[in-house]
Amino acid sequence: MGRLAGKSAVVTGGARGIGEGIVRLYVEEGARCIIADIDVEAGEKLEAELAPNAIFVRTDVTSESDIAAAIDAAILEFGGLDIMVNNAGVVGVIGHIDTTPLADYERTMSILVTSVFLGTKLAAGVFKKQRSGVIINTASTAGINGGLGPHIYTAAKHAVVGLTKSVAVELAPFGIRSNVLVPGATVSSLTAGIVTGDKDNLEDAAVRLGSKYVGGRAPMPRDLANAALFMASDESTFMNGTVIIIDSGKEVLSDRARDKFYPAE
Ligand SMILES: NC(=O)c1ccc[n+]([C@@H]2O[C@H](COP(=O)([O-])OP(=O)(O)OC[C@H]3O[C@@H](n4cnc5c(N)ncnc54)[C@H](O)[C@@H]3O)[C@@H](O)[C@H]2O)c1
Repeated sequence: MGRLAGKSAVVTGGARGIGEGIVRLYVEEGARCIIADIDVEAGEKLEAELAPNAIFVRTDVTSESDIAAAIDAAILEFGGLDIMVNNAGVVGVIGHIDTTPLADYERTMSILVTSVFLGTKLAAGVFKKQRSGVIINTASTAGINGGLGPHIYTAAKHAVVGLTKSVAVELAPFGIRSNVLVPGATVSSLTAGIVTGDKDNLEDAAVRLGSKYVGGRAPMPRDLANAALFMASDESTFMNGTVIIIDSGKEVLSDRARDKFYPAE
């Protein structure tokens, strides 16, 4: 308890899934959060549960003025901004590269990359003046390797990793740390929609996704939130410009090698 005591955070996509998990844990650890999300129903529901330590601000992360308003709300309501979590996301356009419409490509890049650019830009303006701050950007294992997501999602998440590493160089002298949270397939509205067709069917999603993991359990938002807590806290003071992968080794270890050399007993 209290690892983020007195801190103030903006969490985009904070109304559901991984973002919701981060908001809940940050509040448990003493922070106050702006839930910056486009989903008014889910955002207001979470605010009703956590207020006054979490406040919902309806935010479309593709809009610079919306993100600025979420940051302003943190400053006005909580007295400042210490942590910016650029986490909101969607799967975006899927399908073959030769038939991907330009408009769908641009919309996907806007939600997944422009959003992180805007959140980073606007938070950096505040953090540079106060000479402190933490930026956490959510990418994906699809941002590390090819073939784990749709083309444009993969491109976008690689861009999130690249942007975070690049700004880490500029911002470090100001006492600002920028790092990337990398989830593997995690139980959330996003994955429930994909694997069950119903974004609220988290129970079946947990079973289906769990079957793909050694040990039979898929990561839950809390597993990602625990990493995001470390990344936001003073315990990670020396971590900058890097990634934390939370997928129980699924993508970094080779399942094929495991099956070949260490068959199940
Ligand atoms: N769940 C996974 O398996 C997984 C794996 C790798 C990466 N990620 C990434 O984690 C992040 C969170 O995903 P999740 O699984 O929690 O999904 P989710 O659908 O459960 O939550 C995403 C949240 O983002 C919000 N959002 C979507 N578009 C928005 C917009 N334009 N403006 C503001 N808010 C918007 C949604 O309303 C929702 O509350 C995303 O960036 C996603 O790409 C998820």
